[in-house]
Amino acid sequence: MRRLRRTDALRRMVAETRISADDLVAPLFVREGIDEPAPIGSLPGVVQHTVASLVVEAKRLVHLGVPGVVLFGVPAAKDAVGSGASDPDGIVQVALRALRDAVGDDLVLMPDLCLDEYTDHGHCGLLDRRGEVDNDATLERYAEAAIAQAEAGADLVAPSGMMDGQVAAVRAALDGAGRSEVGILAYAAKYASALYGPFRDAVDVRIAGGGDRCGYQQDPANRREALAEVLLDVGEGADIVMVKPAITSLDVVADVRAAVDVPVAAYQVSGEYAMITAAAGLGAIDREAVVLETLTAIRRAGADIVLTYFAAEVAELLGSARG
Ligand code: PBG
Repeated sequence: MRRLRRTDALRRMVAETRISADDLVAPLFVREGIDEPAPIGSLPGVVQHTVASLVVEAKRLVHLGVPGVVLFGVPAAKDAVGSGASDPDGIVQVALRALRDAVGDDLVLMPDLCLDEYTDHGHCGLLDRRGEVDNDATLERYAEAAIAQAEAGADLVAPSGMMDGQVAAVRAALDGAGRSEVGILAYAAKYASALYGPFRDAVDVRIAGGGDRCGYQQDPANRREALAEVLLDVGEGADIVMVKPAITSLDVVADVRAAVDVPVAAYQVSGEYAMITAAAGLGAIDREAVVLETLTAIRRAGADIVLTYFAAEVAELLGSARG
C-alpha cells in the first residue's frame, strides 16, 4: 500500500475526498440594536454582527468563494411566542433584505427557522399550560416565520426545532404564499447535544428553569431513529437534509448518505469549533491541520455540504479567493 503514499503528488492524485470552498456554508449571527460587532466569549473569532458588518462579511465570503450562509438573529426583545421570528421588521428579515441588496444571487441565504432565539423561555416552540412544548401550535409559528423569511429574500429556510411535521408545515406555508421557489434545508437528524453550549451564548438563550431540549431533539444513543427522521423529512419535501452535530455523528452521516439521494449537509457546531480553538490555543494541536482533518472526515462520511464556523478561514487557506 505504501507505493502510492510516497510523494505529495501521488497522495494528492489518489485522494478520495477533497474539500473546496464550494462545500462550505458559514453560520452568521446578527444582533438587533448594536452599533459595533460584539465578540462572543465562548466562540473566539466569531461575532454577533450589526447589519452593516454582516453585509461586509457576506461580501468577503462571496470573494472567498463560499456559496452560502445560515443566518441566526438575536432580537432586542424576546416574548413567549417569539414574535421577532415572523415580524417583517424582525432582525433576520431586515438582515436578509440588506444581504440580498448587497450580494444579489452570489450567496445562498438560509435563515435558521426556529423560535428559541426569540422566546423569553428559550424553547424552540410555544409552551402549553403544563410548560411543555406544544408541537402543533409551534408549527403554525414556523409557518408564519417561513413566509416572513421568504418574503425577505431567503433562498432556503432551515427549520431546526425538531417538531414533528415541521417540513410539511413549512412547505405548505411557502407554497400557499406563492413562494414555491424557496427550498427547505431541514435539520433532519439533530441530537440533543452538549456541544451547542457556545451557540447559546451567541444568541443569548437560556432555557427557563434549567430545562433542556431532550423532549424534541434526538437522544445521542439512537442511530436508526436518525434515518426515520431523515426519511420523514424527505417525504415531507426537504430539499437538503442535515445531520448535527457533525463529528459525533459520522455514522449517521454515512447512513443518511446511503439512504437518500438529496444533498446531505452536516453541521460542525459551536462546541466543535470551541474545542478545536481552545486546544489549539493551548498549543496542544495544530489548528489548521485539525480543522482540515475534521472537515475531510465529515466529507468522507458522506456530507456534501458542511456548515462550519471555520468556513472563511478554510476558504482562505485553500486559496480559492476569486478575482
Ligand atoms: C436552534 C439551533 C441551535 C443550533 C442551531 N440551531 C441550538 C439548539 O438546538 O439548542 C446550534 C448550533 C451550534 O451549536 O453551532 N435554533
